[in-house]
Amino acid sequence: MSNANILLGVNIDHVATLRQARYRDADASLSELIEPDPVALALMAEQAGADGITVHPREDQRHIQRSDVFHLKNRIITRLNMEMAATDEMLAFALEIEPDSICLVPENREEVTTEGGLDVVANQNRVKSIVDTARQAGILTSLFIDPDPDQIAASAKAGASHIELHTGAYANAYYTDSRSAQFDRLVQGAAIGNDCGLIVNAGHGINYVNILEVREIPNLSELNIGHSIISRSVTFGLEEAVRAMKSLIIGD
Ligand code: PXP
Repeated sequence: MSNANILLGVNIDHVATLRQARYRDADASLSELIEPDPVALALMAEQAGADGITVHPREDQRHIQRSDVFHLKNRIITRLNMEMAATDEMLAFALEIEPDSICLVPENREEVTTEGGLDVVANQNRVKSIVDTARQAGILTSLFIDPDPDQIAASAKAGASHIELHTGAYANAYYTDSRSAQFDRLVQGAAIGNDCGLIVNAGHGINYVNILEVREIPNLSELNIGHSIISRSVTFGLEEAVRAMKSLIIGD
């Protein structure tokens, strides 16, 4: 069985990681030479069936640059989801960009990618204030959290419309004895989120193997997938990589 209704958000951060590896300090006059272009790749992902595009402009701008986010907002035809740290500076940037949604994530300068979920319980007031401000600007807010019942309840209390369940612990446990326990946590988390009236997304570490199990989690609305799709695109091209993931999600 599968869930044909689950949407796919493609995270294109790593397109910019590749560009920055060569052109971090490049002069703008080189613009014709600079590749790969996250906007061109986002449009390609949409053509291949992506339901939304996700980016995470980080404080240290290690991959996606703020100018990328402006261009994406103007050019893509689906939805722009902007992951961000829960800081005043990033909130101001979000209000300038007006993405369709923001997803609050913890951000630690040293980590290679987002490692743990946001602690909404400990940061209830701050999170609620960002959710309220974003809502007034017509921006939906999702919270990237571990599948922990207290964090889910706190997310609903903060007024978020969405949560994104962190699938990293499950993905890391895939070839270990704790895989089924981690999977059950996600199933329960999605059910609790749904009961709390939240729209439940999931992401981090989802790939072409574990998707066959992830797609079985009831109550999921959308999956945000980056690394595996961009990696596969190096061999097969982005359109093929997106199409293959879409068809695995749908199960056709
Ligand atoms: N969702 C969130 C909130 C993330 O921070 C990330 C990683 O940037 C992803 C999804 C995508 O994870 P991956 O690149 O492992 O697919």
